[in-house]
Amino acid sequence: MTSNRRTFAIISHPDAGKTTLTEKLLLQGGAIHLAGQVKARGDARRARSDWMKIEQQRGISVTSSVMTFEKDFDGETITFNLLDTPGHEDFSEDTYRTLTAVDSAIMVIDAAKGIEPQTLKLFEVCRLRSVPIITFVNKVDREGRDAFETLDEVADKLALDVSPQMWPIGMGGLFEGLLDFRTGLVARPEGGSKEFLGKREADAAIPENYAEEIELAKVGYPEFDLEAYRNGDLTPVYFGSALKNFGVEELITAIADFAPPPRPQPAGEELIDTDHGEVTGFIFKVQANMDPNHRDRIAFMRQVSGTFKRGMKLTPSGLGKPIAVHSPILFFAQDREIADTAEPGDIIGIPNHGTLRVGDTLSETNKIRFTGLPNFAPEILRRVQLKDPTKTKQLRKALDDLSEEGVIQVFYPVIGGSSIVGVVGQLQLDVLISRLSAEYKVDAALEASPFATARWIKGSDAAKDAFEKFNQGNIAHDRDGDLVFMAKSAWDVGYQQEKNPELTFSATKER
Ligand code: G4P
Repeated sequence: MTSNRRTFAIISHPDAGKTTLTEKLLLQGGAIHLAGQVKARGDARRARSDWMKIEQQRGISVTSSVMTFEKDFDGETITFNLLDTPGHEDFSEDTYRTLTAVDSAIMVIDAAKGIEPQTLKLFEVCRLRSVPIITFVNKVDREGRDAFETLDEVADKLALDVSPQMWPIGMGGLFEGLLDFRTGLVARPEGGSKEFLGKREADAAIPENYAEEIELAKVGYPEFDLEAYRNGDLTPVYFGSALKNFGVEELITAIADFAPPPRPQPAGEELIDTDHGEVTGFIFKVQANMDPNHRDRIAFMRQVSGTFKRGMKLTPSGLGKPIAVHSPILFFAQDREIADTAEPGDIIGIPNHGTLRVGDTLSETNKIRFTGLPNFAPEILRRVQLKDPTKTKQLRKALDDLSEEGVIQVFYPVIGGSSIVGVVGQLQLDVLISRLSAEYKVDAALEASPFATARWIKGSDAAKDAFEKFNQGNIAHDRDGDLVFMAKSAWDVGYQQEKNPELTFSATKER
């Protein structure tokens, strides 16, 4: 049986229109009834927790969530799980991890701006994992670049075959509609606001001056090839306007038709498929204090195989003994809902008190371990200085908690007392200080540290021991006790790598 689940994320540079498109997709799916609700929900959520004030002040979205909606296609119901990724570049680590939990992605590009830095970064992560991508060139209702230019840029910068599935008839003030290559239908702007009101014309006359361009677009690019798309070698390209609702229905149909159902996931040498004989999944995100009055955490599990039933016992790899999952949560668009069953591809929120960690595998038999969920070498390292020395224990607890959540990474140097926190972006440090004070009542300051980056040391125990002995001033342990080389510069890393060929100095750690 082929699965009717489509688990995907939207990747884009801030302002390209991800939020607007998300709203429209949810509307298409009939999951929420009012446009604007994604943002409103965000505001309501923000008010719940002090540290989220940072979001408000900076006008960015730090938290991510899961939205599930359904839509009928000729009698078949497809369930879409849309994983929201924080747009701000400082939160790339969280975003990267979320991308390990999806089977495909939509890449939203602003028609006037083309590929922007954050788009490129996220695309690279997708490529690492061969995540197939559908491209949506947004804002064609505004003056944009020439469509050919955008397509060629995608092809060149991302080294991908592009296959346009639609074409904008004019842009901005001259925008006359969208031609769907698959159906030959044209959607036109209607009414005072020039929105798409749902009417498509067959045999619509294409204005003379666009005929040649459209012919070129049809023959000048590779034909759509499902296998090439699913391998991550080709991207079908849709044009549209999230704001005016152009192209959104075509896009959602494309996800239903082309995007892969839940893919097998790597567990060491093995690939675990959806029909593996037990329920398995992995935690890709932990979010604490959704409700500040409760010290609860929600661990987000991407289900890989089996049919999950409420109350089922699953063993987290980090714990070794089973837990009963009594109140799993499916994140429907309007609200949190208690789930009775879930299928591969679904995301389940599991409330817990810190037992579940990012990277944990959950399974019935505790026999497999999913691999490939990376930690990234931090680019900013700071020493944590306590203002009140009696709070050492609280600080340690807080740092361990927050690193479990993936907010920061923490390193404990073998020499010297103070802990070092590492992040990939400055904003994470603001979040750290704010949460330390608000949630743990710990007043701390961050000071410069002598280190520029960190590398996980891999190799035989003997080689690691020898290295540790001679480099004590540069050695720390991470939260799991793994050996880390604290480097003063990138050069330092290269130097040590050359000097110690029997060791590997790794910029990522797979859990
Ligand atoms: P993001 O989540 O990717 O950061 O982008 P978001 O959807 O918030 O959109 C960024 C801005 O672009 C918003 O305008 C939004 O209305 C606008 N936008 C999104 N899609 C389209 C489109 O198809 N056409 C046009 N013309 N504009 C679009 P804003 O003024 O910054 O915010 P707002 O006050 O409208 O919310």
